[in-house]
Amino acid sequence: MVVIGVISAKGGVGKTTVTSNLSSALVKFFGKKVLAVDGNITTPNLGIHFGMLSQENTLNEVLEDKIEVTQAIYIHPSGVHILPASLSATVEYPDVMKLKEKIDEVKDNYDYVIIDGAAGIGREVLATIKASDKILLVSNPDMAAVVSMIKARKIVQILNTYLYGLILNRVEGKKYEMKKERIEELSEVRIIGEIPFDKKIIESISKMVPLVLLDGRARASRVFKKIAAEISQEVFIEKESIWDKIIRFLRLRKI
Ligand SMILES: Nc1ncnc2c1ncn2[C@@H]1O[C@H](COP(=O)(O)OP(=O)(O)OP(=O)(O)O)[C@@H](O)[C@H]1O
Ligand SMILES: [Mg+2]
Repeated sequence: MVVIGVISAKGGVGKTTVTSNLSSALVKFFGKKVLAVDGNITTPNLGIHFGMLSQENTLNEVLEDKIEVTQAIYIHPSGVHILPASLSATVEYPDVMKLKEKIDEVKDNYDYVIIDGAAGIGREVLATIKASDKILLVSNPDMAAVVSMIKARKIVQILNTYLYGLILNRVEGKKYEMKKERIEELSEVRIIGEIPFDKKIIESISKMVPLVLLDGRARASRVFKKIAAEISQEVFIEKESIWDKIIRFLRLRKI
């Protein structure tokens, strides 16, 4: 059983996309038992990525001690278990620091609990880090995202939590993007996967189904499968597609 927190400091870089697809990949490809938790408690959207829009029981009621954690866990048709936060607006700030205590109550039922962190480095993010055994950082290959991610990394270090690595998301391979080596050098964090910019991800979010579940062979899905394999230490041998074979053949001919 491992609790993994997904954080970035900068908003919109892909934390929820990583959480929903990585959870789905661990279940779909490796048969793991996974609970995905919305740690973005005040502005949640993990449930939306899984097509859940109107849940009566949520993490918010759990944190208020109104219901048991198990009462707010839903089983998605894919097999991923989801603990969503409330989409209703309220001015009362939830007791986010109870997150660890609540997750600890159910974590033994799972191989992995993956917490989708909030943006910034406020109390919700601290609660996510405190509830986690390991942290996955997410960044885009640009200076603003990288500088924020380094800030998040420092907080993780101060809190003495194990840093698993960095997922670079929305990688297009354009000239103006920061290079992988430069990002690793600046942040001193190992990049464990590079998710390409993939329009299919945007489409899958609009369909409210993680891309890994919609199309397991899409480029981005294959990277999520590799990351899931590394995390669960399963051997991953990718079957070569016909296009991969043609590209390899053309490359060989150039030499
Ligand atoms: N690999 C990708 N390729 C193309 N678009 C992407 C990719 N990853 C994410 N996106 C787009 O970026 C948007 C933001 O992603 P996401 O919601 O996962 O970020 P976030 O870090 O969770 O944001 P927040 O900080 O608001 O919680 C998505 O709605 C999607 O449109
Ligand atoms: Mg998010």
